[in-house]
Amino acid sequence: MVSGKHILLIIGGGIAAYKSLELIRRLQDHGARVTPVLTRAGEEFVTPLSVSALAGVAVHRDLFDLTAEAEMGHIQLSRSADLLVVAPATADLMAKMAQGHANDLASTLLLATDTPVLLAPAMNVRMWTHPATQRNIAQLRADGIAFVGPNEGGMACGEFGPGRLAEPDEIIAAIAAQLRTGPLAGKRIVVTSGPTHEPIDPVRYIANRSSGAQGTAVARALAALGAEVVFVTGPASVLPPEGVTVVPVETALQMEAAVSAALPADAGVFAAAVADWRVTSASDRKLKKSKDGLPELSFAENPDILKSVSSLGAGRPGLVVGFAAETNDVIENATAKRLRKGCDWIVANDVSPATGIMGGSENAVTLITAEGAENWPRMGKDAVARKLADKIAQVLTSPKTVS
Ligand code: CTP
Repeated sequence: MVSGKHILLIIGGGIAAYKSLELIRRLQDHGARVTPVLTRAGEEFVTPLSVSALAGVAVHRDLFDLTAEAEMGHIQLSRSADLLVVAPATADLMAKMAQGHANDLASTLLLATDTPVLLAPAMNVRMWTHPATQRNIAQLRADGIAFVGPNEGGMACGEFGPGRLAEPDEIIAAIAAQLRTGPLAGKRIVVTSGPTHEPIDPVRYIANRSSGAQGTAVARALAALGAEVVFVTGPASVLPPEGVTVVPVETALQMEAAVSAALPADAGVFAAAVADWRVTSASDRKLKKSKDGLPELSFAENPDILKSVSSLGAGRPGLVVGFAAETNDVIENATAKRLRKGCDWIVANDVSPATGIMGGSENAVTLITAEGAENWPRMGKDAVARKLADKIAQVLTSPKTVS
């Protein structure tokens, strides 16, 4: 999403400007190209040399810089990027934008562009809550400008409240959201993935062999089609994909809470191998061997996340997709499971050890819908994910209802 994109980063004058240096690094780690612009006030907080050195290109500073103008005029500079990001965006810079001023390089670039703009404001809490600032923000929102933050918290000036610059990760997620293109742009999809760990005591837990590979591949494929993906993952053995909002959880109860916090959504894909039971007698101290015999564990059934989301009324995602891990009678069991859970589709797979699917890199699935069963040839988990994501995109972008 961010990879290969060109970001024009305007660094305004504020104590939070130092965080823009980290932002440059992180954007580059994600494969983005960053062209930095430093305002006069910004130069009071970070030096042009450190910005240039980190970005690996010259920093733009002056409206009337003959050399820079000869190389690339400021109009061209403002339009060559995929996105203009202002971090930190000061009250003064936002006031200039709201009024359409163009009396320095940053304000001129922002006025001369038809490229989307994202602001990450940072300022003293009183400046943020001042009616003048709030009026300017309302105007900028009405003009189609996007915002990330500010966050609430302690500030460098010793006060507390909204005004802190959003963290680099949050800014990058907001940048990714602005740059999303593809058939699923504007759609929000919740994906669960990985195993859950159900504690027995602080060092032992019940788990399963799921690696999280299939759920991760599905999340990646959906994000590649432009979806905003909330990826709720148990302790998986593969890394989460880029460009999704990762919500790490351990237990089924935590997964259930994270999924309900992530709703509403246009679709839900439940690929997690959720433990069916949790240990109700879990100890907060390590269990010791004892001459009195073996520990007695008692269990309770975990909530069925797929079933409860499928049975939601008004808040039900338009398309709910479950997975079925079966070791025998795959199609019969999965067909019954689709009806029992109330979901729209079931992606069924045979996880008996001989198939090598659980924990492996390939999958052979059957897609069960209201229309029947569709066998897909054995292929890589990434290819299964792309095929599934394409089908989800077809449904979410067609005016026809889900079948
Ligand atoms: N699932 C869930 N919450 C649970 C258990 C399962 O959301 N507590 C979801 C899984 O993510 C998957 C589907 O339900 O999408 C089926 O999971 P599976 O383990 O195959 O089935 P179970 O519900 O455990 O049923 P059974 O034990 O009868 O196989």
